[in-house]
This record gives sequence, C-alpha cells and structure tokens, in this order.
Amino acid sequence: MRHILVLNSKGGCGKSTIATSLAAYYAIRDERVTLVDYDRQASSLDWLRRRPENRPPITGVAGFQDGFRPVPRNTDVVVIDAPAGCHGRELTDLVRHAETIVVPVLPSTIDIVASSKFIDELQEVGKVERREVKLAVVGNRVREVTLIAQELDDYLGKLKMPYVTKLREAQNYVRAYTRGLGVHELPEYLAWPDWEQWKPLVSWLNSKRSQPKAA
Ligand SMILES: Nc1ncnc2c1ncn2[C@@H]1O[C@H](COP(=O)(O)OP(=O)(O)O)[C@@H](O)[C@H]1O
Ligand SMILES: [Mg+2]
Repeated sequence: MRHILVLNSKGGCGKSTIATSLAAYYAIRDERVTLVDYDRQASSLDWLRRRPENRPPITGVAGFQDGFRPVPRNTDVVVIDAPAGCHGRELTDLVRHAETIVVPVLPSTIDIVASSKFIDELQEVGKVERREVKLAVVGNRVREVTLIAQELDDYLGKLKMPYVTKLREAQNYVRAYTRGLGVHELPEYLAWPDWEQWKPLVSWLNSKRSQPKAA
C-alpha cells in the first residue's frame, strides 16, 4: 500500500486541489484509491461527494474524526490531504502515515516565507531526517513571466529535495473540483497543458525516487 501525503502548513496552497486530482489520477488507472482527509474543512470529502457515480470510485476517510473507519486493506494508493497549521506533534504524527510527501508552494512572498519555515521544521522531523520518507516540492498556481514566479523557481530550485513540477493557475482546477473530477478527467482539449505539467510529478511518484529504500 502506497501512502502519499500532500502537506504544507500554509493554507490555500493547493493541498486539497492536488490531493483530489492525484486520487482521481490513480483511480482512472484502476488502482484502488482511498482519500484520507485530515482537515476539518473536509474539502477532499466534499469533492468526493460531488464525484459522479460513473467515475472510478474512491473511498473517503474522515481522518480528522476520532474513531474514523480504517483504510480498506485492499487499497493500492492512499492519498492524504493535510490540514493547514500543522506543526509539532501533529506534524510528526501525520508524517508517520506516509512514505512520500508532496509540498505545494504558491508564488507569493507570504507563501514562500511561510513554506520556508515549514520546510525547515519538516526536515527536522525524525522520519525525514532518517530518510524514511521522500519529499518533493511543487510550484502551484504559477503564472509564468511574473517576477514572483521567478522567485519561486529560485527558492524551490535551491531546496535539498526535488522540485518536480509547477502547475499553472487554471480554471480547470476549479472546474474539476466543482464536478468531483480530477484534472485528468477533464476533456483533453481543455486540460492537455495541465496533463503535461502533471507528467513529471506522476513519473516521480511512480519511480523509486519517491520511495524510501525500506519500503
Ligand atoms: N492551480 C490552480 N489554479 C487555479 N486555482 C487553484 C489552483 N490550485 C488551487 N486553486 C484554488 O486555490 C484555492 C485553495 O486551494 P486548496 O486546494 O483548497 O488549498 P489548501 O487545501 O492547501 O488549503 C481554492 O480556491 C482552489 O480552487
Ligand atoms: Mg485543503
């Protein structure tokens, strides 16, 4: 069972957007997917309720509730959507659930500064220090040819973890969420530029580079 955690303590950076599209990506590839939502706002579970019945199913788990039902044993891929403001003990507990962590960061000074503190804290979590979990960063809502997009590139490129891709700012993500779909389930003529941007992320996720040796 594969566990992919989408994590950043900064709110609004695209955790739920990426977690839901990632869950759908695996579901349409016939993987048995469970989406665990640790955020009380429950955006991922709300998305799941919007998901049309004719789409490949995804199991939802409300990780924020005490006594939540367990992840089905036959799950292939668990995608975990993290809450904002996750620090200290809560962060350590969340990291314990995953072998792979994807950290989205927005091109904005507020987000870069906040994410930089968060990534410092994340790198000090024991499991991360012991390299029992693999991390990557993703730029999100990027509008090319802006100064701040260049700053984000510079910042993410200097980190000690792979900077796997950047996702553009696109209505497709808003549309997909509203319809309970992943960006890969939108029509190709609309979403092909996004599919291109997801390729490096999914190829990292599907490679050994995103999995610790012991796994
Ligand atoms: N690449 C994107 N393009 C356009 N809008 C986006 C994109 N990523 C996220 N959003 C929007 O940004 C807002 C915050 O995203 P969300 O996934 O809820 O972040 P988080 O879960 O980290 O709080 C939402 O309104 C979402 O629709
Ligand atoms: Mg969220």
